[in-house]
Amino acid sequence: MRRTKPGSSRDNEHPTKSRPYCHVIEPQFKMTDHMPCVQLNTGAQMPLLGLGTFRLQGPEETYRTVDAALTAGYRAFDTAAVYRNEAHIGQALSTLLPKHGLSRADVFITSKLSPRDQGSKARDGCLRSLEQLGLDYIDLFLIHWPGTQGLDVKDKRNPDNRAQSWATLEEFHAEGKFRAIGVSNYTVKHMHELLKSCKVVPAVLQVEFHPKLAQKELIALCEKSGVCFQAYSSLGTGVLLSDHLVQVMAERCGKTPAQVLLRWAVQQNIPVLPKSCQPDRVQENGRLFDFELSDSDMAKLSALDCNEKYCWDPSLVL
Ligand SMILES: NC(=O)c1ccc[n+]([C@@H]2O[C@H](COP(=O)([O-])OP(=O)(O)OC[C@H]3O[C@@H](n4cnc5c(N)ncnc54)[C@H](OP(=O)(O)O)[C@@H]3O)[C@@H](O)[C@H]2O)c1
Repeated sequence: MRRTKPGSSRDNEHPTKSRPYCHVIEPQFKMTDHMPCVQLNTGAQMPLLGLGTFRLQGPEETYRTVDAALTAGYRAFDTAAVYRNEAHIGQALSTLLPKHGLSRADVFITSKLSPRDQGSKARDGCLRSLEQLGLDYIDLFLIHWPGTQGLDVKDKRNPDNRAQSWATLEEFHAEGKFRAIGVSNYTVKHMHELLKSCKVVPAVLQVEFHPKLAQKELIALCEKSGVCFQAYSSLGTGVLLSDHLVQVMAERCGKTPAQVLLRWAVQQNIPVLPKSCQPDRVQENGRLFDFELSDSDMAKLSALDCNEKYCWDPSLVL
């Protein structure tokens, strides 16, 4: 993985041809050598592109998909206890890293604490993820959800439980078992609460983000606080692939709708985690760093913002 600053794709000084609407950059490096990264507040480099693994089914599909992703140059993998595939991913990586001539240090693994383990069960949850993945350390470990499974969203125990979980993540971070820690699905309110009380500032906030959900307030808060804002469901769980504007733009640029949606995020230095279980789509979703969207196309996509959510809505969690 080439260690680069955010925006390195734009810093590539070797554009060789332009199209009227889309700036094509001839890659100077193999993609594997040229995976742009963002720098976390821990100093670690996190790839701008990772493989989403929610709904990867079973060990064979997981192995095949991780193999395709490593071939296409992906070096980051996003899993979670609730995806029930940590063990499959760990097994796949233990076989595939040597096959691809890679070592543990060449990949960036993210997992997440289940809402079931929030609070007093957090330590067990953290240990279980390490054990399931078969790893000595996890690069990034997130609290998956601000609430606790089994409690009403308005239950007053929710804030105490997530504070206890965060203290546990801080312990694992201090022990070197979690190289970076962060949160997911936190709203501005949850982030303010955490930033006020934490000993370790979260490295990452992972939330739903795409042109129809631009999350401006959260992005501004992250920028101010040194937290890396990371996108999930960049394709709108697949729904946005049939959006008319996205399709027209893709056609004009000679790219696919998925590449346009993902490029819109990475061109803002926002890391993405597209999920596909189809090797050709995994490869397609990885080809993001050899073209640029024009300022005008970036603005047109951003203008689609209408606070549309395709995943869960954490705003009601107390
Ligand atoms: N922290 C959280 O709470 C949270 C929540 C949601 C997601 N995530 C993370 O983010 C990842 C991605 O989000 P997501 O899975 O919700 O949705 P997504 O990546 O926005 O979309 C995935 C869907 O799009 C399809 N797809 C992918 N690439 C395609 C392409 N090039 N052409 C056509 N269809 C394509 C996939 O189908 P096929 O698989 O059949 O190709 C799948 O149905 C997850 O896997 C997970 O790792 C995190």
